[in-house]
Amino acid sequence: MSAIDEIKQRLDIVDVVSDYVTLQKSGRNFKALCPFHTEKTPSFFVFPEQGTWHCFGSCGTGGDIFSFVMKQASIDFGAALRILAERAGVTLVAKQKERAVDKEVERLYLINEAAAQYYHHLLLNAKAAETARRHLSERGISKETIDSFELGFSPDSWDALCQHLEGRGYKGDELVSAGLVIAKEGGGFRDMFRNRLMIPIRNDGGKVVGFGARALDSTIPKYLNSSQTAIFDKSGLLYGIDRAKGAIREQGLAIIVEGYMDVLAAHQYGMANVVAPMGTSLTQKQVGIIKRLTRNLALALDADVAGDQATLRGLEVARQAFSERVDRREKRWLEGDSKMEGKVKVILLPRGKDPDEVIRECPEEWRRLIDEASPLMDYFFKAVTSTLDLSHEDGKSAAVAQLLPRISEIADSVERELYLRRLSKLVGLDEKTLAGEAARLKPTARERAKKAVSLPTTQSPSHPLEEYCLTLLLQHPGLREQGMALPPDYFEGTENRELFLAWQNTTDADGFERIRQGLDVSLQEHLDTLMSRVLPPASEREMETALADCTRRLGEQHLRRLKALEEVLLTEAESEGDKNVIKEQVETLLQKALEPTSQLKDLFEKARRERKGARQ
Ligand code: UTP
Ligand code: MN
Repeated sequence: MSAIDEIKQRLDIVDVVSDYVTLQKSGRNFKALCPFHTEKTPSFFVFPEQGTWHCFGSCGTGGDIFSFVMKQASIDFGAALRILAERAGVTLVAKQKERAVDKEVERLYLINEAAAQYYHHLLLNAKAAETARRHLSERGISKETIDSFELGFSPDSWDALCQHLEGRGYKGDELVSAGLVIAKEGGGFRDMFRNRLMIPIRNDGGKVVGFGARALDSTIPKYLNSSQTAIFDKSGLLYGIDRAKGAIREQGLAIIVEGYMDVLAAHQYGMANVVAPMGTSLTQKQVGIIKRLTRNLALALDADVAGDQATLRGLEVARQAFSERVDRREKRWLEGDSKMEGKVKVILLPRGKDPDEVIRECPEEWRRLIDEASPLMDYFFKAVTSTLDLSHEDGKSAAVAQLLPRISEIADSVERELYLRRLSKLVGLDEKTLAGEAARLKPTARERAKKAVSLPTTQSPSHPLEEYCLTLLLQHPGLREQGMALPPDYFEGTENRELFLAWQNTTDADGFERIRQGLDVSLQEHLDTLMSRVLPPASEREMETALADCTRRLGEQHLRRLKALEEVLLTEAESEGDKNVIKEQVETLLQKALEPTSQLKDLFEKARRERKGARQ
């Protein structure tokens, strides 16, 4: 749960508002003289069940606790967030601290980039780098690849890098923090990498965060990686992601290989959707990065490692992350389209061969292997059959224990049946028995989901429709014009409204990072969540219709909120005269609220006509 949601859950809007306003009970709700304008009769209402407030008088606005505090104290979202977080006892990453950390981190990036340039220069020019150059040319790594990946060479010296970077004004301690230098026991520093081929590792923003350093002789270990630093966290990095991002998104597929060299070869041969983890099995974080780009993942595995525990672990991480259906809220939109489930496939390599070798020998062969990648479940079957003795009872029950839980989690019923049948054949157990067993296993998954869903929500902090609308806008620059016409008031959730305003205040040319930079950390989280949502593939036309639809419904929601308020007010009203005044006021508000909706309608009409015109 995000800090924002947590705060909303922990704080009672009545408590918060009561600090500034004397509330009177009014049915299930509360009312008061509006703190934001002068009035004689109360038109400011608080709705504890919804966690919202609304001024019915001349303000005509409303919102949640965040917007209340923002308006009350005339502060921005970040400041309101901090006040309320403190009150709720929710810890936030302090912005000030963040800034200091940012500076330090910035410096670590600079140091690593400087080191990469130094190593690269040596690889191209130093006499001592002859072996490294030969190694690369023997492996068919082109000059372009060396340049674009900024490959380098670390000389066989204890302090060459140290000297070089100290000469550029960096302190020894800083170089230690950057993971490039080691502090000696008796004082002084020494280089971490010596006589190695240097492979700069970049984060998804393209910044050098560390190195993979390959030995050029039989030195062990073959690869030495930068030590863990503030910017080098192996579990969250994918080698090549900065250059692969675009291709992954375009092709709708990410290919995971094991080694740095495999990434280099793939990219050199024009297959740019390839990345590698840092020598460990795939982690949640890494899969998370990929999930933002595509729902399709293929892992290249050496046929030898079938059933290997580390491999299975990585696959399991990928499977779980990708089999999560689109989340509950989106699903409502997507009408449970099961195609949205992510696909994880396995590319089985010829025994003992790296993608690097396959690609170099025959790029077509590599393409064929990708086309023939098998679904993950098939791979699990293969792994099980190759590691268990299925002629014995023990082996059979182990196979059932390993495969059945995975099968029972397949969302598509036809697919599930198929694998059940296959398992039944494999172990010679009756299909019905297995199906029964699978059904028995299933509730655990359901219970798990239920648990995740039924967090103690006294009020619903989320606004699915608002989030869907924002997701559309954020992910589809083509919707800019229509989106700009949306009134911020349509977004009731303050975090959504803030994101919307941030989006409105940037242009698409500024890019997503620009929106992100201007936001409070907690809103950045929210933004990331929305960016990682997967929308079904659709044409521009369909997207526009979706947005039009969404806008209309947001408008309706807004009106419904006003109508509900009217209800409340009418029951409060003491005389017919009062009632008439209220009705009039509401009518004005409704008209105001309807204006943007009809303007939007015009806009959509216009877009449709233009498209029609363009087609004719
Ligand atoms: P490989 O041995 O397959 O490396 O290890 P490679 O990249 O294909 O290199 P070549 O072809 O031998 O030149 C796969 C990955 O495991 C990690 C590295 O990330 C490597 O790319 N690894 C391997 C280490 O971290 N340390 C090691 O000692 C070996
Ligand atoms: Mn290799």
